[in-house]
Amino acid sequence: MLTNRQGHPVHDNQNQRTVGARGPATLENYQFLEKISHFDRERIPERVVHARGAVAYGYFEATGQLGDEPIGRYTRAVPFAEPGKRTDLAIRFSTVIGGRDSSESARDPRGFAVKFYTENGNWDLVGNNLAVFFIRDAIKFPDVIHALKPDPVTFRQEPNRIFDFMSQTPEAMHMLVNLFSPRGIPSDYRHMQGFGVNTYKWINEQGETHLVKYHWMPKQGVRSMTAEDAAVQQGRDLGHATKDLQDAIDRGEYPEWELLVQIMSDEEHPELDFDPLDDTKVWPEDRFPARPVGKMVLNSNVANFFAENEQISFGTGVLIDGLDFSDDKMLVGRTFSYSDTQRYRVGPNYLQLPVNQAKNAEVRTNQRDGQMTYHVDGQGENPHVNYEPSITGGLREARYPHLDEQGPVINGRLTRSRIPRTNDYTQAGQRYLLMEQWERDDLVLNLIGQLSQCDRPIQERMVWHFLLVEDELGLRVGEGLGIAPGDVAHLEPLASQDLSEEDRGRLASLG
Ligand code: HEM
Repeated sequence: MLTNRQGHPVHDNQNQRTVGARGPATLENYQFLEKISHFDRERIPERVVHARGAVAYGYFEATGQLGDEPIGRYTRAVPFAEPGKRTDLAIRFSTVIGGRDSSESARDPRGFAVKFYTENGNWDLVGNNLAVFFIRDAIKFPDVIHALKPDPVTFRQEPNRIFDFMSQTPEAMHMLVNLFSPRGIPSDYRHMQGFGVNTYKWINEQGETHLVKYHWMPKQGVRSMTAEDAAVQQGRDLGHATKDLQDAIDRGEYPEWELLVQIMSDEEHPELDFDPLDDTKVWPEDRFPARPVGKMVLNSNVANFFAENEQISFGTGVLIDGLDFSDDKMLVGRTFSYSDTQRYRVGPNYLQLPVNQAKNAEVRTNQRDGQMTYHVDGQGENPHVNYEPSITGGLREARYPHLDEQGPVINGRLTRSRIPRTNDYTQAGQRYLLMEQWERDDLVLNLIGQLSQCDRPIQERMVWHFLLVEDELGLRVGEGLGIAPGDVAHLEPLASQDLSEEDRGRLASLG
C-alpha cells in the first residue's frame, strides 16, 4: 500500500485536492506538498570531478605475502596480514570530466576508488586507470580541471583551453602521452588497470616505514577503444561501461583484479633521476618490482543508484593502522579536498550513511547533531557524557596498539618551491618508445586531431615539448601541424621548468 513519509495511506495519487473538479488548489494539501517538495530536492550537487560512475561490491583476499616475503616485514595493516583473509569492499569506477549523465566512451582518465570495510575501520584507495597524473602539486588542481572542463562561455570542452594550460605545464607530458594513446579510452571498466598514483607509506610492527605504490591488474586483460570505436559506442549507448559491469556480475562472471605493490625504502633516493614523491613519475619495475599481495573479486551490484553511488564518499585521508601518507604534495592536498567536498556535497553526517559507515568496525564518537543526523554514534556507558575526558562513563582515548608514532624529524625553511629532479620528459619518452607501432600512430593521430584546433603559439609550444620527449614524436606531430623543429628553435624554456643537461642538448640540436 502506498503511503506518504509519515506512514499515512495515500488514497489518491492521481488528483490533487481542489475546490471542485476544476477549482483552485488548497494549501493544506499535505500529501501533494510533501511529494512535490521532496521531488524539488532530489538532486544533490554532483561531484565536481568524477561525476559519472558505477559502483559494485565484493571482497579483497590477501596472500599474506609481498611476493615471496612475509608481508608483516613491511606492514601491519589487517587486510594484508593472513593468507586467505577476506575484507568486504565497495568500488566506484568513474570518468572524470563529464557530468553525471555524460558519455562513458570519452577520452578521459578513469577513476578507480576502492573502499575496504576493515575491522580497523575503513580504508579508501582512491586511484585512476593511468599510473601518473597531469600535475605534481595540489595547488594546480583547480586550474587543470578548469582547463579540461567546458569553456565557461560556450560550455564546450575546447582543445585550445586544454592545450593552452598543458603547453605551460611540462610535467603533464607523461600523462598526455598516456591519455592520447589507446589507453586513454578503456573499452569498459572490467578491462582496465588501476593505480594508486600517489606514493603512500607502509608501517610494520616495529614502526619502520617504507614508500609504496599500488597497482590493480585485471584478470580479464586490458582492452581499449580507438577514437572511432568510441564514437560508434557513444552513438549507441552513453553508459555502456556501467552496463557491462552490472551485466557481468548479474551473469555470475565476477571480475577480478590482482593487487600488486612496489616498495622502496623511506628516503629521498638521490640515486634516482626522479623524486619518489612525484606523481608524474612511475617507479621502474626492473628496480622496484610490482609484487602481488592479494586479489579483489566483485560479486554484487548496487540496489539503489542514489544511495550507494551518488552518496558514496571516498577520500585519501581514510587510512588504517599500518598505512600512512607520504609528503607527496598532491596527496596532502587531495586529503583535505575529499572530506571537504563531501561535507558540502552530501552533508556533514555523510559518514552515517550505510554505504560510507565503517561497518566492520565499531564507531564511537562525541560528534553530535548537524543536518540529517541519522543516529547517535556509539557512545560510552553514560549517555549524558558527550565530551572527553570524563570520569563518569564517557568514551576514552584508544591506546596506540603498537608503538607511539615514529614520525620522521623534519627540518627545513618554509618555502614555495618545485621539488628537485623534475625531469619532465625522460619517462614520457620511454613510454612512447615502449609503445607498439599502432599505438604510436594512434597517439600521433589523436594529438594532431586536437592540436589542429589550437592557436599557432600553443601548437608550437606543444611540438617543442614533444621534441624534448622524443624526437620521433615531436617530428611526427609537428609534421601533421606543419611545424618543423627549426620553427620552434627560438622558444625559450618556460620559467616554470628546470631542464636537464640532456634536455638542453636536445634543444640545442633543434635549429
Ligand atoms: C574525486 C579532488 C587528484 C582520483 C574527487 C573529488 C574531488 C577531488 C573534490 C570529488 C569527490 C566527491 O565529491 O566525493 C582532487 C584533488 C586532487 C585530485 C584536489 C589533486 C590535488 C586525484 C588523483 C587521482 C584522483 C591524482 C588518482 C589517483 C579521484 C577519484 C575520484 C575523485 C577516483 C572519484 C571518487 C568516487 O568515485 O567517488 N577528487 N583529486 N584524484 N578523485 Fe580526485
